[in-house]
Amino acid sequence: MLSTAHVNANADTRDCWNDWSSLRRTYRGIFNRISEIYKPLGGKALLLGAGNGNDVDIDYLEAAFDEIVLVDIDSEALECFLSKTRQSKKFSKVVIDLTGLYSKIPDLKNMSENKAAALMRSLQPKSGLAKIEEQFDFIMGCNYATQLLGPTFTSNYSPRIDSGIGEFLQEVNFLTDRVLKDIFTHIKRLLKNDGIFVHSTDTFELKMNKLTKQTSPATLPILQAIGNDYRRLGDIASTYHELRNRSMHISGSHVPQSESDDYKLQKLFVIPWFFEETEVVSRVYINFVYFFTHKN
Ligand SMILES: C[S@@+](CC[C@H](N)C(=O)[O-])C[C@H]1O[C@@H](n2cnc3c(N)ncnc32)[C@H](O)[C@@H]1O
Repeated sequence: MLSTAHVNANADTRDCWNDWSSLRRTYRGIFNRISEIYKPLGGKALLLGAGNGNDVDIDYLEAAFDEIVLVDIDSEALECFLSKTRQSKKFSKVVIDLTGLYSKIPDLKNMSENKAAALMRSLQPKSGLAKIEEQFDFIMGCNYATQLLGPTFTSNYSPRIDSGIGEFLQEVNFLTDRVLKDIFTHIKRLLKNDGIFVHSTDTFELKMNKLTKQTSPATLPILQAIGNDYRRLGDIASTYHELRNRSMHISGSHVPQSESDDYKLQKLFVIPWFFEETEVVSRVYINFVYFFTHKN
């Protein structure tokens, strides 16, 4: 089952509450800014990909909202989220597959790349969000978008690649785009007329092996552009465009084009997520946090 990969990944990051406190503080700053430039947060909230809640400013949200619905494919992770709340009565959980595809994707590891690519091409997403009918004042995507089809790349699920990274990867990217369009279409239905939609997604990975000095592709261009100062992340839009054109962004981190025409982008925040720092590896994600409203 593809969902097992998420359960395992969430189990790996279950203890990251303290490590990710600066990310949560940064979101608090963003929520305050949205309150200033648009309206204060309140009413009913829907959190997508809420997981263990380590990247969610739980205190702030439970004070602001009367009701909070948590969505994830991993029920156990949501239990972990709930264990950190103070006002658990405000919360409810909905366990669904945001893609609607996991039951249709078999084990790919004995399949040829051609066959696996053809399978990906044939799939049409049907998000579990269809099950939700009420409307919300606030919807937030909590860094799930790049994870949706990620498990198809892990060793257990990847097909037998015969000809380098080619057709299969491309088809997964096209499918990811269809999945995101489907999710964004549901969000349009679920968001109240004057509602706030915050889509947070890890967009670039800055990873360095301290022993070998090997880096992921986006690392050096971004560090050079900001002069190693993460406070300058907001000022380098042209570098991001260039890196995206060179496909150095993380698959699934884009906002689907036709859907972005249906939302008004009120503001884009670019923030660092200091994900991992060990003796060997340093890993920072550059998160794009889109603040959308309906385009009325
Ligand atoms: C990177 S994690 C986000 C971190 C999470 N907010 C936390 O603090 O633990 C992405 C989350 O998206 C969830 N997710 C990934 N694919 C999903 C899918 N198809 N349907 C529902 N949730 C999914 C994962 O289970 C995971 O909890």
